[in-house]
Amino acid sequence: MTDQKFPSPTLSGPPVSRWWGPFPELRRDTLGFFLRCQTYGDVVKLPMGLVIELLLRRRDAATYVLNHPADIKHVLVTNQDNYRKGPVPPVESRIFGLGVLHTDGEMHHGQRRLFLPFFHGNHVTAYTDLITGKAHDMIGHWQDGMTVDIEREMARLTLSIIWRLLFGREIGSESDIVREAIAVGQRLIKTQYDSLFASMTPLWVPTKVHRIFNRGLHAMEAMIHERIEERRMASQQNDDLLALLLAARDTEGRPLTNKEIRDQLVTFLLAGHETTANALTWTWFLLSQFRSVRERLTRELNEVLADRLPTAAAIPHLRYTKMIWEESLRLYPPAWSLHTRVGRAEDHLPSGAVLPPGAWVFISPWSVHCNARWFPDPNQFDPERFSDKAKRTHAPYSYIPFGAGGRRCLGESFAEMEGLLILATVASRFQLRLVDGQTILPDPVMTLRPNVPVRMIVQRIDIHEPHPAVA
Ligand code: HEM
Repeated sequence: MTDQKFPSPTLSGPPVSRWWGPFPELRRDTLGFFLRCQTYGDVVKLPMGLVIELLLRRRDAATYVLNHPADIKHVLVTNQDNYRKGPVPPVESRIFGLGVLHTDGEMHHGQRRLFLPFFHGNHVTAYTDLITGKAHDMIGHWQDGMTVDIEREMARLTLSIIWRLLFGREIGSESDIVREAIAVGQRLIKTQYDSLFASMTPLWVPTKVHRIFNRGLHAMEAMIHERIEERRMASQQNDDLLALLLAARDTEGRPLTNKEIRDQLVTFLLAGHETTANALTWTWFLLSQFRSVRERLTRELNEVLADRLPTAAAIPHLRYTKMIWEESLRLYPPAWSLHTRVGRAEDHLPSGAVLPPGAWVFISPWSVHCNARWFPDPNQFDPERFSDKAKRTHAPYSYIPFGAGGRRCLGESFAEMEGLLILATVASRFQLRLVDGQTILPDPVMTLRPNVPVRMIVQRIDIHEPHPAVA
């Protein structure tokens, strides 16, 4: 049988395999494929191939890639009720269950109503000292001239912070179990996205990777259940996410089950630390490559902080630090793709394209951020793009590192505060220099990670002993 390539008849798109649709190309070079898609117009139709058509029992099954911010706004915001989240590989459902990232409709609305107050205003700023303190502890272990795997350092740090947010206590030996479970889970999710065969093999089939995955997930779940049970027995009041979940009632007034609480905790654990760790890793990488940006950052930190640790009050004054953070999220958005959305009814997009009922819609923040139509000279790292004046010139919805609409990231304010505080704490005391000879490229797994460990040499900046943080 020939695997002849054909272009899609109505909307245009790159040639794809007749049997396997875009999947072989995506496996080969995911990011390059989406860059090529930009040249086919505002909406790119990717036929899913005969195999998927047979499995879905649907002719002309296709994914539509959106390249125009006006269409993105339409799908994520204006007409969002027409879209639900698309199916995910079994391993992803197994990990996240019915946590807020994966539910839809009324259930999702109810969950968001529960969490929104927790992630807003004073409740978030109450974590300032915790974050700064933990970043300060981390660099307390760094010695001048030592080499660190910066992604690992950032992941450990953000995990210890999110653990406190969830459970109100320090993470101990659990850290390694959680990191290992997440790493294996991520690899398996990627495998299942890439291979139809892998995604159809049930997790109880004892392949080597399934066994490792199941062992890791059970260990993590056992720890979480222990925390839940322990708290059910305890009498003291807490102000963490677990306390919120234990106090919550469903629409019938019933308390949540252990399984429901577990699903939310795992969701926040994963959504809330790996993303921020990635963003910070890329920011350190970029700062090591752009000396003038690093120098201007140092000047700002000297002016705003002198030799003090940053506080909530300092954050609005860290303007250039914030511009760096935002530009880094443009070039390397950790959530490089949003979950696929599936349209309920036919939809007319502002660009003129018509999506049929059941259309799969794909939006990649990374691809939109790298499009020269919206960001001239898109590969250039230039924090000036995020000065107050320059921001006003951005096309609305061309910058979407945290998504948009009713599913916009719940942890956005927390992540930004965490990112800025960690950057300021570390950069005011250490310079980070990339070890020579490494080629660092983005690898689009669940998050946009560096393809290899990023080894950096840390060099102490000569300052006086820090004064305690000022309130
Ligand atoms: C730099 C860090 C982060 C980035 C880039 C990021 C990005 C995103 C994006 C793009 C979405 C939307 C996904 C979609 O529409 O398909 C999302 C959703 C979500 N994020 Fe984040 N996130 C970050 C940090 C966090 C943190 C720190 C938390 C929690 C503490 C968090 C919790 C969530 C949750 C619960 C959702 C699901 C919201 C919903 O579906 O209603 N995220 N995030």
